[in-house]
Amino acid sequence: MSATPNATTAQSDHQGLESNGEVRLFEVGPRDGLQNESVRVPTDAKIDMIERLVDAGVRDIEIGSFVHPKWVPQMADTARVAAGIRRVPGVRYWALVPNMKGLEFALKAELSHVAVFLSSSESHNLKNLNRSISQSLEIVGEVIAEAVSQGLTVRGYISTSFGCPYEGDVPFDNVMRIAHTLTQRGCRYISLGDTTGMGTPLQIRKGCRRAVEELGVDHVALHLHDTRGLGLVNALQALEVGMRNFDASVGGMGGCPYAPGAAGNLGTEDLLYLLESLGYETGVDLERIVAISRDLQLDHGVTLSSKYYQYAGARL
Ligand code: HMG
Ligand code: MG
Repeated sequence: MSATPNATTAQSDHQGLESNGEVRLFEVGPRDGLQNESVRVPTDAKIDMIERLVDAGVRDIEIGSFVHPKWVPQMADTARVAAGIRRVPGVRYWALVPNMKGLEFALKAELSHVAVFLSSSESHNLKNLNRSISQSLEIVGEVIAEAVSQGLTVRGYISTSFGCPYEGDVPFDNVMRIAHTLTQRGCRYISLGDTTGMGTPLQIRKGCRRAVEELGVDHVALHLHDTRGLGLVNALQALEVGMRNFDASVGGMGGCPYAPGAAGNLGTEDLLYLLESLGYETGVDLERIVAISRDLQLDHGVTLSSKYYQYAGARL
């Protein structure tokens, strides 16, 4: 591969977020949100959504994925999305890639930030990536090495970190083993995926405390799905043990097509409302996020599950 990204590069990576009351939001709506939607959102509308999310203050945004279009048809237009968006300096535009082919597409699209993914449970990894965990570690290891050698920054998702829809509980030792392997290979950030929203507050608290200690606060994020209504409770538990990076999806859209029954991600507006109420700074404007959710629902019929969106009136 020869293409070199000339898009925005990472200039200001996470710095001491725990000391100044800041929380960093990683917006996954255009990828995790839309990948599981039964309605197809047109490319122009995706571009508009991404630009409005950035205008609302989002600084890390996953714009789509370069996966096989037969596996996830909703993401088939990611190259066109990447070509269509206005790139704002300082904003990190990410794409999810499963393998070397996905990385090639990301490089062609001039993206300088890619996210790799695998699961900590065999059955989910097989359903989602058609590979065993050890095969995936090999593939992902090569992708990370190549991406880093091309100057890209890599994030690694570990799915089913707090439970697998096929196997139940997953030992957190397994999750951390994968996290350290990815980090050693050159992955800069780890995102712990509660893929189906099975995680309980105590599990999240314990796992996040350990991950923050072992990986460092700036290098680990929590990726919650809100299937059982514990999304905000779990976010609070994580905050309390020092987690300062959270993934969220506008309107609470989302879900993994290969995790049956899994509901949307923790809604961006729900997370922002919680964080604002606790005095944390994110730099993201809550009301502008709500307006984006509203337009996705009204203009495109997307089903939204964020709680704040259900009644976004002013606090009197
Ligand atoms: P496979 O069938 O084993 O692929 O699928 P293969 O390597 O055997 O190749 C078969 C064909 O696919 C070949 O084409 C390849 O070129 C092509 P042919 O020679 O037959 O014409 N191919 C590709 N095409 C486009 N893009 C690619 C690509 N790679 C190979 N990147 C594969 C393996 C990884 C492709 C498939 O399993 C796949 O696409 N899986 C993606 C599943 C997915 O996107 N899931 C949702 C995202 S993960 C998630 O949501 C969880 C997360 O949010 C965190 C959490 O919540 O926990 C991140
Ligand atoms: Mg997810």
